[in-house]
Amino acid sequence: MQFEVFTLLPEVFPPYLESSILQRARQRGLIDVRLHNIRDWARDKHHTTDDMPYGGGGGMVMKPEPVFDAVESILGPESGVPVILLTPQGRVFSQAVARELAAHERIALLCGRYEGVDERIRMRLVTDEISIGDYVLTGGELPALILIDAVTRLLPGALGDPTGADDDSHASGLLEYPHYTRPPEFRGDAVPDILLSGDHARIEKWRREQSLLRTLERRPDLLEKADLSEKDRKFIESQKSKVNPEF
Ligand code: ADE
Repeated sequence: MQFEVFTLLPEVFPPYLESSILQRARQRGLIDVRLHNIRDWARDKHHTTDDMPYGGGGGMVMKPEPVFDAVESILGPESGVPVILLTPQGRVFSQAVARELAAHERIALLCGRYEGVDERIRMRLVTDEISIGDYVLTGGELPALILIDAVTRLLPGALGDPTGADDDSHASGLLEYPHYTRPPEFRGDAVPDILLSGDHARIEKWRREQSLLRTLERRPDLLEKADLSEKDRKFIESQKSKVNPEF
């Protein structure tokens, strides 16, 4: 999968892209991340990419010409490649959106800076707008890295384990069960006996129940959309009064 990243700060990407799973995914040819400095398409001798907002007010706005030139020269005309603007005004990123994007061969990510981008960029160049949450960052670079990370780990072969991302929190609409590794006891807290039992059917059942319980305790809103069996629903009902007597 190819990511075309358009940014005024290309230098912030390599340290993360050259680490761990993303590095391995790049070496295996699963992803290719191309960084494009929008400033390279600025037209004046000062390489200006921002300007004052019409109508006044604080902050600067990203000019349309360098952004259009950058994106159009890299993607070519009518490429059909999604051009995603990272902005707090976009649809909220989620595991479902990550899955949707992972189905594309190539996507373009446009990182806004300053107060925002000229509205004509949104109107005529951008095909999708994504926010990573209801808070405001200084630019779209960290959101772009987050998106690349979440999408890459969904690509077959990106994670060492062949079951990959199947058990992740949010993969099935539930939070994940608790994990333990050695030692069997640490500072007085023991690993639950069941995990040491070797009884895979019971371990599976325990994990499912822990996953349901965690979701009920921390994110009960997720249970409404989760894929639940009759058994799951009975278990949740049996736990509701313990988790919160008001349920
Ligand atoms: N740029 C600034 N804040 C952002 C956010 N929350 N999500 C995506 N892009 C952003």
